[in-house]
Amino acid sequence: MIRAHLTIDPHFVVGDIHPRLFGSFVEHLGRGVYGGLYEPSHPTADEDGYRKDVVALVRELGVTAIRYPGGNFVSGYRWEDGVGPREQRPRRLDLAWHSTETNEVGLNEFATWLKKVGCEMVYAVNLGTRGVQEALDVLEYANIRSGTALSDLRIEHGDSEPHAIRMWCLGNEMDGPWQLGHGTAESYAQLASKTARAMRQVDPDLELVVCGSSGAGMPTFGEWERVVLEETYDDVDFISCHAYYEPLDGDFGSFLASAVDMDRFIESVVATADHVKALKRSEKTMYIAFDEWNVWYQSRYDEVDKITDVESWPVAPRILEDAYTVMDAVVFGSLLISLLRHTDRVKSASLAQLVNVIAPIMTEPGGDAWRQTTFFPFAQVSSLARGTTLELKLDCPTYRTERYGDVPVVDAVATHDAQAGSTAVFLVNRSLTDEVSVDVDVSHLGGVRIAQARSLHDEDIHAANVRDDQERVTVVDNASAHLDGSVVRLTLPPVSWTAVTLEATATRVAPQ
Ligand code: AHR
Repeated sequence: MIRAHLTIDPHFVVGDIHPRLFGSFVEHLGRGVYGGLYEPSHPTADEDGYRKDVVALVRELGVTAIRYPGGNFVSGYRWEDGVGPREQRPRRLDLAWHSTETNEVGLNEFATWLKKVGCEMVYAVNLGTRGVQEALDVLEYANIRSGTALSDLRIEHGDSEPHAIRMWCLGNEMDGPWQLGHGTAESYAQLASKTARAMRQVDPDLELVVCGSSGAGMPTFGEWERVVLEETYDDVDFISCHAYYEPLDGDFGSFLASAVDMDRFIESVVATADHVKALKRSEKTMYIAFDEWNVWYQSRYDEVDKITDVESWPVAPRILEDAYTVMDAVVFGSLLISLLRHTDRVKSASLAQLVNVIAPIMTEPGGDAWRQTTFFPFAQVSSLARGTTLELKLDCPTYRTERYGDVPVVDAVATHDAQAGSTAVFLVNRSLTDEVSVDVDVSHLGGVRIAQARSLHDEDIHAANVRDDQERVTVVDNASAHLDGSVVRLTLPPVSWTAVTLEATATRVAPQ
């Protein structure tokens, strides 16, 4: 049996957990919007055409903020197409996803849906085919109360209250050759800076996100961040990171260690941001918006390329509908651990995406909505991780991976809510074969009791929740968890995810 030992001490704080860490992302892509959250003919549809079963699942997932409307889609999007009388809205070619966009859902409708799910909107402006003026226009339309042409137009369209969008993304993945209007770091940086300054003339308190690289594997990664931040450092608050993981060539050992790559990615971007901070003798700290992350089987499908005839690009095709396995959920959980581990700098993150498209929630037209395996770690973390992340002392054996060298068998993070006296520990066992026996030293927490210990695991690591078997995988109580003096002992099955919550008993822990 492999053994691991963790020590938790509430004095060693990494950073505050911002609620936006539990954000998600809805793009006009495939059946994400149409046939996903919006399906007026569905038996559960409400008066606005939104599926109530999907609303209930999004609420259960515990999502806080949602990035919209793209993604690659946004780089060719005209926001005006999606407002005003529906019957007058144009159908457009969506070059990103070889689809036809009907524009039935736009800014105001999405804001209405967000109220139902209780989430904040994070809005991405098009800096691919458009620029400063269009960004100013959508800002005026969305956020100005009244008395100007575009704010009055919103009111005429039925939304008397402004949408009060605080956080704005300055384009999407502008380093990617696949992106409409992509260019050099210098050209993007100048446009992003001009757009940010113009938007701040309207409202200096906006929170602005500049595009970092679309992945750490991009040839320009690192240099792109440096150039973009040197130009925009004073104008923006966040730089974005995007990362997607999948097993390559059946190398599950490396896949299970994906969070190692995410850790290095975040730390490299922090290093670059701090380099620019030093160059500028700046007092300001740049934060990270990890605004796209997930497991995504990109190499498995060429669905979008197969949609060739531009005369008949489909509306809301079934694309990017990955069915997630137990192993995917375990990797996904470790990505959440990586985000939590960096709460000093990662203040916002968006799980890409939410419904049907590489999503924790799946739907069938006229039929069911269900939870994918990845739903469970997200829902647990969003409901249990409160307060601050703690630095953990973790001792455990390593294993050799092709891609990342020697990697600890266990990945773990702890969060602590000093006011509530609660602590959560999230753990992943990456071993494909072995159980791990874990001892968690909780003596520094004072008296605690185990409130809950639940794991996601299956004998078949490829098991998934699919249309005809929607509840195959779920989280179950981990009966091994028990308190032995001031040590929590539990066993982690191979390829598993576990969440443990501890509640203060006699003494409440309040670090000085
Ligand atoms: O989330 C799917 C796509 O991945 C997004 O549109 C794009 O930004 C990224 O490449």
